[in-house]
Amino acid sequence: MITEIPAFLIGQLGKNDSYAGEIAGDEIIDYALSVILRAQEIIGGRIVYIECQDKLELKEFYSRNGFKVFRQDPDDKLIQMVRLLK
Ligand SMILES: CC(C)(COP(=O)(O)OP(=O)(O)OC[C@H]1O[C@@H](n2cnc3c(N)ncnc32)[C@H](O)[C@@H]1OP(=O)(O)O)[C@@H](O)C(=O)NCCC(=O)NCCS
Repeated sequence: MITEIPAFLIGQLGKNDSYAGEIAGDEIIDYALSVILRAQEIIGGRIVYIECQDKLELKEFYSRNGFKVFRQDPDDKLIQMVRLLK
């Protein structure tokens, strides 16, 4: 029985406040995914996930970048969203 599935976690994604107007969040996540794709070539794996606060702006940001909510616990302040790699 499979009880654990390895996955890549993108943690603490965020802009540097001093340069917030100079880069889009989409560019940051594209960069993070490009690093993960390089790692995937070496160690495999297809699942990338993030944890974020249950806020509309953040859910829209991650949805726009291909993530879907897979865990939303009302007792937990964080939600988890997942994206599958090819
Ligand atoms: C998440 C992030 C990378 C997205 O970047 P982006 O797509 O370029 O979008 P913007 O920074 O322009 O933000 C879009 C809107 O979401 C809001 N927003 C962003 N992060 C937010 C947060 N953590 N909580 C509430 N609102 C947030 C912004 O205030 C902005 O609102 P506005 O359009 O009314 O001004 C960037 O907003 C960021 O660094 N946020 C702070 C760190 C963070 O919360 N990271 C997520 C950790 S899981």
